[in-house]
Amino acid sequence: MSLLSLSDWINPLLIAFQDLQEGFLHALAALRLAQTSHGQPAWPFAQRLSGEVLLIDRSVARQLLEALGFVAIALLSLAVAALWRRGRIVMLLIAVVLAFFAPWPDRGLLLAPAEPTSFHVSPSGFSAAAIVHGKRVYDQRCASCHAADGKGDTPLALSLPVSPPNLASGLLWRRADGELFWKIAYGARDRLGATTMPGFTRQLTDSDVWALIDFMKANAAGTSIREIGSWDQPVALPAVATDCGDVSRRTVGQRHGQRVRIILASAQQPASFPLDDPRLRSIILANGAVNKPTSQPGEPAIDCMANSRDAWQALSIITGIDSDKLAGTQLLSDRDGWLRARKAANDGNGNWSESDILCRAPAAMKKDARGGLDELIAAMDAEPVRFVKGGFIHAVR
Ligand code: HEC
Repeated sequence: MSLLSLSDWINPLLIAFQDLQEGFLHALAALRLAQTSHGQPAWPFAQRLSGEVLLIDRSVARQLLEALGFVAIALLSLAVAALWRRGRIVMLLIAVVLAFFAPWPDRGLLLAPAEPTSFHVSPSGFSAAAIVHGKRVYDQRCASCHAADGKGDTPLALSLPVSPPNLASGLLWRRADGELFWKIAYGARDRLGATTMPGFTRQLTDSDVWALIDFMKANAAGTSIREIGSWDQPVALPAVATDCGDVSRRTVGQRHGQRVRIILASAQQPASFPLDDPRLRSIILANGAVNKPTSQPGEPAIDCMANSRDAWQALSIITGIDSDKLAGTQLLSDRDGWLRARKAANDGNGNWSESDILCRAPAAMKKDARGGLDELIAAMDAEPVRFVKGGFIHAVR
């Protein structure tokens, strides 16, 4: 039997960090001991446990595991002391020594500043409607400094003492959603307390702010495709209502949903190739009236249809393709609801290959693959998205 390697321990450890804190917050709320902030139980401390450093610096992670090992043996010694009268003194001594010499990492490395909303969960569900609403609010209130593409290089931004960060980078994925919420609601200050970004809590409702966060992620995905041709950070298939039920991203608890293929169709570019496929659920998405293709007698029925301007616009933002050029594009999500692959409108007859994957580990890039949909699905399933945000894991398998 081989011992698990350190990297096998990191994800469970981060999940434990998160579960512990969320569990504590839920318990406080159940006992009516938690204050409420913006509609959800407020985190009561100025700091929280954070996994950021553990992810980056493996030596700190190793040290933490060793310290936890010391504590576990100390507890075991206490248990033995309770049961074994003659050895009690020795076992108690061992427990004390172990607890005293446990090699805890520096506290500052395991704690991060927290806000009352740090553990808030976005109620928007990354819906297409929220992304589109977020875009409206962003254009009105934020683009003057952060620029339409999120890069923050507008004349106004360049005149500020502190420049806005590039929102199209990995930044939004490194922060907890609840902490982004707090920044947008209450703004940011420099060390001397001077305002660097104004807060918007007076002008915007809570749902405006959650919608802004959804939009900024979708927008960062689109900017990433336009610039490097792939999604640098994982992006979910937006939740869309279809005539066969809601499609939205699976959360950690509900694995093994269906793979979804979205076919963006217009009257000029209807979905004309065979649509039924046991490996995935196909959804035809229209931006106005498009007739549902009828299946031939004896063939299984076409899966689903959605006619949604919001979904169309949200996918235009995510793919970085103008909405009038989107018809004919296909998108594929994995079983957890992450968008993984795209077939461009002008790219042949709809045959997929592994090179259509747009969201994957950099080492696994394979541009010249030609193996069809089976190969693509195998590659996608072999590398599920392990998404870590603010040192919190949001989706793991
Ligand atoms: C007056 C210019 C200005 C406006 C308007 C503005 N921002 Fe900012 N924003 C900034 C600056 C400057 C920073 C960097 C602040 C800092 O690091 O102290 C920033 C930082 C941010 C960050 C990064 C926070 C982090 O955790 O690092 C986010 C997210 C953000 N802004 C979102 C928004 C949104 C959403 C809006 C519109 C509701 C908005 N901003 C409006 C100037 C602006």
